[in-house]
Amino acid sequence: MALVTMKYEMSKAEKGRYAVPAFNFFTLDNLIGIAQGAANKKSPVIAMASVGAMKIMGEHTTVRMCEGVASDFGIDMILHLDHCTDYDMICRAVDNGFTSVMIDASKLSYEENVELTARVVEYASKYGVSVEAELGHVGGKEDDIVVSEREALFTVPEDALRFVNDTGVDALAVAVGTVHGFYKSEPKLDFPRIEKIHELLPHMPLVLHGGTGVPDDDFRKAIAGGVRKINIGTELKVHGVFDVSKQGYAQPGDDPRSVSKLVIAKCASIVEEKIDVMGSANKAG
Ligand code: G3H
Ligand code: ZN
Repeated sequence: MALVTMKYEMSKAEKGRYAVPAFNFFTLDNLIGIAQGAANKKSPVIAMASVGAMKIMGEHTTVRMCEGVASDFGIDMILHLDHCTDYDMICRAVDNGFTSVMIDASKLSYEENVELTARVVEYASKYGVSVEAELGHVGGKEDDIVVSEREALFTVPEDALRFVNDTGVDALAVAVGTVHGFYKSEPKLDFPRIEKIHELLPHMPLVLHGGTGVPDDDFRKAIAGGVRKINIGTELKVHGVFDVSKQGYAQPGDDPRSVSKLVIAKCASIVEEKIDVMGSANKAG
């Protein structure tokens, strides 16, 4: 089973009106847990490597790991480079076998964002690799991209329409009230804004970042409004990897292999819960 493109899965999700879950990973156990959860639910899944995770795993290893895991579990997996600001790094990811990339030029001006995003689309599309871009700022912290909650800018629907026409992206990350990392207070999503963007761009998959801590009902409403990809990172990193590893290594002489099994099982169970909420179960193939 080869890795699949995001464009393919997004068009299925648009027709079926569900979202494909996207999870950040940074270790093999973490990735195996994601694949296990997707296989158990017969769901497509997006495995996302952040720039920081790539520094740990290496580009070639990341791709080979995903190809191997997708094949072992017989699943439809998209390998996505998350929040990358560097054109050359994106080109290397495309050359090395990523099936989807995100150019995050959301800190630049509209014109600069368009210019850089369009260049990435031009390169990636030659290889059939899907491109996600961001318009507006999703607040919080993602690796070294820090945007304070105060400065976070929501996506203006009319700008989103112009941006998609100006760049030719395959998916659009929108700033609609979510933030990266754990929430300090209950998240407040701007559902009318999501609906308005979807109304102007009915065939453009919208991406919701900062999925950790968003209530299930909010996910459902966002999906009903047109969101087709939902990113979850912190929840898996903290609850799926860190907490269970700490617990697993608590006793002297504990076997690291048993910790791997705990991480895989916990990551799989979180992934399965999210798949149920996003409606992507039984949508593989
Ligand atoms: O791009 C990745 C995400 O948007 C993850 O956000 O860590 O808040 O779940 P999160
Ligand atoms: Zn994000």
